[in-house]
Amino acid sequence: MPVPLPPALIPFLALLRCPMCRAGLHLDRGALRCPAGHTFDIARHGYVGLLTGTRATSGDDAAMIRARDQFLSTGKYAPIRETLARLTAGTVPEQGTIVDVGCGTGYYLAGVLNQLPGARGLGLDTSVRALRSAARVHERAAAAAWDVFRPFPLADGVADVVLNVFAPRNPSEFHRVLRPTGRLIVVRPTGRHLAELRGQVPGAITIDPDKEQRLHRALTPFFEATDTEQVAYAMSLTGAQALDLVGMTPSARHLNPADLYNDDLLPDQVTVSLLATVYRPRRPRAARRRGAARRDPME
Ligand SMILES: C[S@@+](CC[C@H](N)C(=O)[O-])C[C@H]1O[C@@H](n2cnc3c(N)ncnc32)[C@H](O)[C@@H]1O
Repeated sequence: MPVPLPPALIPFLALLRCPMCRAGLHLDRGALRCPAGHTFDIARHGYVGLLTGTRATSGDDAAMIRARDQFLSTGKYAPIRETLARLTAGTVPEQGTIVDVGCGTGYYLAGVLNQLPGARGLGLDTSVRALRSAARVHERAAAAAWDVFRPFPLADGVADVVLNVFAPRNPSEFHRVLRPTGRLIVVRPTGRHLAELRGQVPGAITIDPDKEQRLHRALTPFFEATDTEQVAYAMSLTGAQALDLVGMTPSARHLNPADLYNDDLLPDQVTVSLLATVYRPRRPRAARRRGAARRDPME
């Protein structure tokens, strides 16, 4: 039985492109199809599976998504969501289109859409578990399986805002899908973020001290920063919240489970320290001159 088209996906039909031949897509018997017959199923969980061929090499697994969902539902990261919503509301037209790349469970996209009653959002992620949540997170949020490192399944210049929160980046594709008046908003941790937790949990991954320079090098050919806000606060944690916080990060993959469940190692207070930057796209010719497509692997 064909799955009905999720209502939030309808406004995106005109903006999506076939990932195989770049033609437009239309709805046909519960799937999206292009005129050449390339077909993409709509999962019963409400997201569209545009990712075909070779599997993506990264993406959160079920345990990470469960931990992320549990942790975000505590509201401990609400100040980050509020900052993003405020920065986005300052840049998007009323009927704006927001694309959240590496959207995870859609927590931030939903927060942004709550502030913008006429806007619509599309979350892209490789993780099926994440997409199941993202497809249900908000009535105006659609979700699609996509790998950030491949050309996005979107027409040129259709997005008013691209969000990138703790997720991998593809600067040339961000630039291509943004309108010239659009904005890219990138949220990433500073070296102090969760330092207490990383310091106490053996095997937890560290934050690359060159991270900011790498980000700058990758984005500069395509974007210029217009505004940066710092989000910094002390956050108290229960043992369960600390476990979720570790479990939702790539650190979880590098840890010995015995260490993870040793409550004594986990701090009851940590520092949240992030930067949220708004970027304006450079003019297309300037962007082409300044750089070839670059890949910026991680948040
Ligand atoms: C640290 S999580 C952040 C999720 C979300 N932005 C948030 O902050 O709650 C990184 C997300 O990027 C996704 N991801 C990893 N590699 C990806 C790729 N190549 N293409 C698209 N998404 C990817 C993961 O599945 C995960 O949902």
